[in-house]
Amino acid sequence: MKLWGGRFTKSTDSFTDHFHSSISFDSRMYHEDITGSMAHAAMLGKQGIIPKEDSDLIIKTLQEILTDIENGHITFDEKAEDIHMNVESILISRIGDVGKRLHTGRSRNDQVALDTRMYTKKEIKAIQALVKELMTVLNSLAEKHTETIMPGYTHLQRAQPVTLAHHLLAYIEMFKRDYDRLADSYKRTDVLPLGSGALATTTYPLDREFVAKQLGFSAITQNSMDGVSDRDFCIELVSDLSILMMHLSRFCEEIILWSSHEFRFIELDDAYSTGSSIMPQKKNPDMAELIRGKTGRVYGHLMGFLTTMKGLPLAYNKDMQEDKEALFDAIDTIKMCVPVFTNMIATVTVREHNMLEAAKGGFTNATDAADWLVKQGVPFRDAHEIIGKLVLYCIQNNTNLDDLSLEEYKAISPVFDESVYAAISVKQCVEARNVIGGPAKSVTTMAIEANKAYLRSLV
Ligand code: ARG
Repeated sequence: MKLWGGRFTKSTDSFTDHFHSSISFDSRMYHEDITGSMAHAAMLGKQGIIPKEDSDLIIKTLQEILTDIENGHITFDEKAEDIHMNVESILISRIGDVGKRLHTGRSRNDQVALDTRMYTKKEIKAIQALVKELMTVLNSLAEKHTETIMPGYTHLQRAQPVTLAHHLLAYIEMFKRDYDRLADSYKRTDVLPLGSGALATTTYPLDREFVAKQLGFSAITQNSMDGVSDRDFCIELVSDLSILMMHLSRFCEEIILWSSHEFRFIELDDAYSTGSSIMPQKKNPDMAELIRGKTGRVYGHLMGFLTTMKGLPLAYNKDMQEDKEALFDAIDTIKMCVPVFTNMIATVTVREHNMLEAAKGGFTNATDAADWLVKQGVPFRDAHEIIGKLVLYCIQNNTNLDDLSLEEYKAISPVFDESVYAAISVKQCVEARNVIGGPAKSVTTMAIEANKAYLRSLV
């Protein structure tokens, strides 16, 4: 007999039981469900809504059930639908009528909202710790490479020289924003919905503030219909995770390019690459590709989630049971991708020489050559034109700006003198860019120090 079976004369079709049951995936919230129920029972006892002895016995038994679940002594029953009714049925099977008092002044609608918020809060903290670890690894790699010159790109064409530190610091900025976004969504998750009832609260004198305090919530929801039907906090998290995956995916794309034979900027550790079953020479960046691929999966959850919610009238609708698999899978995916990525980066070998050679080719110092002319009083547009002609000359003669003779320079413009060579060395191009946010060693060193202080400040 179902816990809600009173007004029914027939039992549910067994395939229907299977169809609408959520225990196969919501059982992972057993801890939240039980601690939530313990706080609710304590409040019922304190308010005299149920006898104090009953409340005590319920709490004690729930604690035993928790231990039994943790020791693997309990198998959940699909017929009991979800984690909430599984726990309640087990409680009733152990203490009979007293157990039947637990659900006073509560609905599964506010209960599931509570469990999901508790679970989400816990996972946000866990993901933040992983992002922090990733930033720490990137920052120490950056520290080793403040003088490792590499080409910076636009349109994937060599543009201006930068350093590997500068490039890595760009990603740290993205991950800092990800960390912040998570902290921000935590605030909106950290609101207790229990007490909303099915949709319109209850006539019992609940003490919601007490329950919030017991469960470590900072606030309580202010409208019961919103309390049971709001899933913004889940969508917000999946959206934050989508942006985080987008950052990882862009970085993975670079890892894949950089480890190709065409670039040869880095070599991945054997532990984070794979071979081919047919081509003996292959060393493939599979982990980076898989992370890039899984990005689509997380985006898919975001779209699915938004679509599930878009047409729902207030308040609770069973459609909302679809929230969990999307949320859980997005969380699980991130919790696999971030550590794999972190370890892959921590063990990478940097081919500094190849990066430098690439920076020297492709006329990455052309802007600096033009700037040198400007400093001699040539208007920028004319300087651009002169250097453009020199670049064309270099291409036609298969050489580069550094290797032209002074005569060749002077043939295009008489303004040139010997000092142009120092100004256009890639090292000078990098070092002269000492504006805040730039690649010069003096600037990246400051950024790395600031990051260390930031990382220390994170709890
Ligand atoms: N398993 C349900 C869910 O995940 C719990 C809430 C069910 N409430 C209801 N009125 N059917 O959404």
